[in-house]
Amino acid sequence: MSDELQVAVFASGGGSNFQALIDKKEEGKLHVTFALLLGNNSKAKAFERARNHDIPTLHSTPSHFEDEKKYTEKLLEEFESRNIGLIVLAGYMKMIPAEVIAKYHNRIINIHPALLPSFGGQGMYGKKVHQAVLDYGAKVSGITVHFVDEEYDKGPIILQETAPVLDSDDADSLAARVLKIEHANYWRAVEAFSQGTIKMEGRRVIGSV
Ligand code: GRF
Repeated sequence: MSDELQVAVFASGGGSNFQALIDKKEEGKLHVTFALLLGNNSKAKAFERARNHDIPTLHSTPSHFEDEKKYTEKLLEEFESRNIGLIVLAGYMKMIPAEVIAKYHNRIINIHPALLPSFGGQGMYGKKVHQAVLDYGAKVSGITVHFVDEEYDKGPIILQETAPVLDSDDADSLAARVLKIEHANYWRAVEAFSQGTIKMEGRRVIGSV
């Protein structure tokens, strides 16, 4: 096992953010090992991306297990055996057991396609986020990378970047502009975490990203 940070990525869908992280690693900008791709949908493109880059995969979802306790045990076992130091959510649509969140406190990060605390919370995902931004009439949107805690989209913010909202936008065109910004920036938070250039001060994440 390399002494790089061992990272587990959780993805439910296309995994374009996962791909962008893999690309940054291959460009030599991101110094982590992708030790596991976990997904709840084995047909998701994220699995294909993992296989293309020899990243181990695990298809697992709460409904495969008798109860949440068994599911949690399986996840923790997998993470411990792979020495996972960071969990990166990249379009992951299933709940994460409370015990995993507690055990990986400030070691789970997520990317949200808007500027939190606006346009976030349970049920705010995908196009719904961008439509809400447009319906509200906001002039700026963007991305937020944050630690995950027990409350949806409320954990400490690691980085934010903005994207303009244009008069001509619909949810698709805004989503496309924001997604590009996600791809260009998610890796920076992963790298900052892995290199220890950020730390917590109260609920603020300080340092260089
Ligand atoms: C992204 O917009 C991300 O912000 C959100 O889920 C989407 C995942 O897209 N959390 P992809 O699967 O990485 O293409």
